[in-house]
Amino acid sequence: MSSQQGHTREDGGWNPSSWRSRPALHQPSYDDGAKLDAVARRIGKLPPLVTSGEIQELKRALADAQEGRRFLLHGGDCAESFGDCDADTIVNRLKVLFQMSLILGHGLKQPVIRVGRFAGQYAKPRSSDKETLGGETLPSFRGDIVNAPEFDAVARQPDPERMFQAYAFSALTLNFTRALFEGGFGDLRHPEYWQLDWIDQSPRAIEYRKAVEEIANSWRFLHTLGGQMGTERVSAGFYTSHEALLLPFEEAVTRRVPHRRGCFNLSTHLPWIGMRTSDIGGAHVEYFRGLQNPVALKVGPSTKPNELLQLIEVLNPHEEPGRLTLITRMGRKHIAEALPPLLAAVRRAGRHVLWVADPMHGNTETTPTGIKTRHFDNIRYELETAFQIHAAEGTRLGGVHLEMTGEDVTECLGGARSLTEQDLPRAYKSAVDPRLNYEQAMELAMLITKADRSGPTVGARPAASPRPVAVI
Ligand code: PEP
Ligand code: CO
Repeated sequence: MSSQQGHTREDGGWNPSSWRSRPALHQPSYDDGAKLDAVARRIGKLPPLVTSGEIQELKRALADAQEGRRFLLHGGDCAESFGDCDADTIVNRLKVLFQMSLILGHGLKQPVIRVGRFAGQYAKPRSSDKETLGGETLPSFRGDIVNAPEFDAVARQPDPERMFQAYAFSALTLNFTRALFEGGFGDLRHPEYWQLDWIDQSPRAIEYRKAVEEIANSWRFLHTLGGQMGTERVSAGFYTSHEALLLPFEEAVTRRVPHRRGCFNLSTHLPWIGMRTSDIGGAHVEYFRGLQNPVALKVGPSTKPNELLQLIEVLNPHEEPGRLTLITRMGRKHIAEALPPLLAAVRRAGRHVLWVADPMHGNTETTPTGIKTRHFDNIRYELETAFQIHAAEGTRLGGVHLEMTGEDVTECLGGARSLTEQDLPRAYKSAVDPRLNYEQAMELAMLITKADRSGPTVGARPAASPRPVAVI
């Protein structure tokens, strides 16, 4: 496989398969190793999904965010499913990401980097290898790239062929995404056509309406000034991301490219390491350390400052700007005690990272009737607290990481329409974590712009120019 070639001394013993000598958590056990290798070889020969040029461009944008000149919006489904690879779902997903980015750009007076948790977000870590139901025990569902969710023995058997399908579905998703971004979204870009009925349910309705009106004016201004050119520029810029969990797959998509140093994961722009696989001696950290992509790391409440500093040293030994994004996911209960020591340690050590808040994964709860949910108020609380803690520590929160969908689902409680436990069964579609629906996501974007402004010493620099083209 091409991934095995070109191993040099400066790699410090790294190559795309060096993770194999370390313990790899959350991997399925395939019963046909030869088939697994054959599928990986097939994928290794296919054209890449993204280019090294795009990856470097994202790294530069993330370096800007680290310096306080941009803001990262990183969001999408907890997991994509093969069945959801359809035009409506993709359009809706882009719609919410794009419209949120306009709200954030307008409110924060900064360009927003849009990174979707999609076109490859097919693998999930599971707390247990097995699931037992009605006396029968089967392998857990690990995402569509591994097996199928139905509780039967055939569906739950990990099948390497699914890696090939995941690559193909990622390509289809990305192909349509690129077409939409290049051709514009038509009406979806214009605030006049956004679905904003929910605003009137909110106590902040007047403020929100004013923000939307200002964004609409900016669009009109752009049209008047530059015709399509201005708006096309604003619509550009979109990147993909997924948790690079299933290592045989990630290895197969890791390649060298002509005229550039090192190896790139060419299936996505921004791969991340999940919280459950961030052990410094583990296979995932080993795999990630040698990539040229910008990489992200989830950081939970049990991470100790010295462990985090060691991870930073391994993942970004040369302090490359834009290389490392730390996504903190503490939970409402833990953020106040868990986040400040980490920020202080990284600052004192003089390390440079992009700090991002994930207010979703530490706030998952189960209702008395057994439904997995998250409360909008807890999500909001964690975000606002993160902004305040960063302000107090003299560090900068440069982005948010959210699980959301453009659909009208009922998976998270609260929000302007005050969804209750009784509402949850009405449109609960997620097979994994509960997502903010379209309205809740848009409302959160509005609230983020308020939170950032209110921090006493938030390190964001003032906008370079009041012209709309500069702020969106
Ligand atoms: C996720 O992002 O879906 C996830 C599993 O997150 P974490 O690793 O932070 O728990
Ligand atoms: Co999730």
